[in-house]
Amino acid sequence: MSFQYLNGRLHCDGVDLQTVADEYSTPSYVYSESILRRNAQVLKDCFIDRGFKVSYAMKANSNPQILKLFRTYGLGVDIVSAGEFKLAQKVGFRGSEINFAGVGKTLTELDMALESEIDYFNVESRFELDILETRAAVFDKKAPVLLRLNPDIDPQTHPHISTGLKQNKFGMGPDKVHHILTHPQDYPHIKFDGIHCHIGSQIIRPDPFFDLISYLQSFTSNLASAGAEINQVDLGGGFGVNYQNPFEDILKTTPYLESFADAANEKLSQYQLHIQPGRVLVANSAILLARVLGTKENGGNHFIVIDGATTDLIRPALYGAYHAIYPHIQKEGSRLFDVVGPVCESSDALAKQRELPELETDDLLTIASAGAYASSMGSTYNMRPLSPEVLVTREGKSKLIRQRQSFEQMTALYL
Ligand SMILES: Cc1ncc(COP(=O)(O)O)c(C=O)c1O
Repeated sequence: MSFQYLNGRLHCDGVDLQTVADEYSTPSYVYSESILRRNAQVLKDCFIDRGFKVSYAMKANSNPQILKLFRTYGLGVDIVSAGEFKLAQKVGFRGSEINFAGVGKTLTELDMALESEIDYFNVESRFELDILETRAAVFDKKAPVLLRLNPDIDPQTHPHISTGLKQNKFGMGPDKVHHILTHPQDYPHIKFDGIHCHIGSQIIRPDPFFDLISYLQSFTSNLASAGAEINQVDLGGGFGVNYQNPFEDILKTTPYLESFADAANEKLSQYQLHIQPGRVLVANSAILLARVLGTKENGGNHFIVIDGATTDLIRPALYGAYHAIYPHIQKEGSRLFDVVGPVCESSDALAKQRELPELETDDLLTIASAGAYASSMGSTYNMRPLSPEVLVTREGKSKLIRQRQSFEQMTALYL
């Protein structure tokens, strides 16, 4: 059912968003359990059932209820910090279901992961390999490693989320990766197991992924000829979604998932394949529900000021990202508005120049595609509490899955 207008009022799986606002106040994130399940099922059908390992990149949204739900579909997790690691463990993921990515890991983080015998480390630099070698020797273990290759492939996405170009900070160039994998004896406490690539995020066109598969086919075959041992290839995440049409099913927003899996299986058939999707699993599962504080006009520009802000959804300010906006009560748009929050930054705008109806104080507005990189990127800037997360269950009941942060919680760290 998902998000839809019923009798001119926006609902989530049959629940009128007005009742959610009345019960939990605003701003709040509202998730549809049925969409979360649908997305996990699609990824299972397209990838796990074709022999892939799928690790959910939990940076996209780390709510424990979502993590638990995804685990029931056979997904592991891709983590990037000690905090994500501890949360994944708390939720029940075993070491063997965790891979540890990220461009820089601290000694404490490496030790923690070594002790828990994670599936593998995604290592991006020589300095990290050197430290991992030393720490693995202390633990008398062999650390399982996939080297992150920077293939210099343009993902054709926003520069801030493009990670596979040679000038980006991520991964290592092909010569370095080739050298390390053909000299494994330099690292007696590392078990080199293969290659990892993640070329970027919100990749809409399939071509960069197909280029990546072809690139890896020839790169791994050269490596194998040079005697390197490769068992696993991790193709990363980055599957883009349709922010213009946010409630579309992911098989429509991201129609190349199956052909990508088939192409990878065909060209890299000798390896255990692995992906780490984040956004595609959660983006369309939630909206940010906000209340109109008032409207105003300055210099001919019309503004709708809402109680939600960039502290709840930073993507528009960070990348000029587009998020569709819908009034709770269905009405035709009448003029162009900037939808802005109360935060003291001119960049605190959720949308610019959108055709929306005239709204009044206390009307509800929803900002769509707020499931990925929204709550997980939330902040307390301006001493604004982190907003609550509400899940609408398959039974059509709303359930709080994260509380609104209290003032006491916000100030607890101050001495
Ligand atoms: C290493 C790695 N893997 C996976 C992801 C997930 O990307 P996405 O949410 O675009 O699927 C990211 C995102 O930044 C990443 O850095």
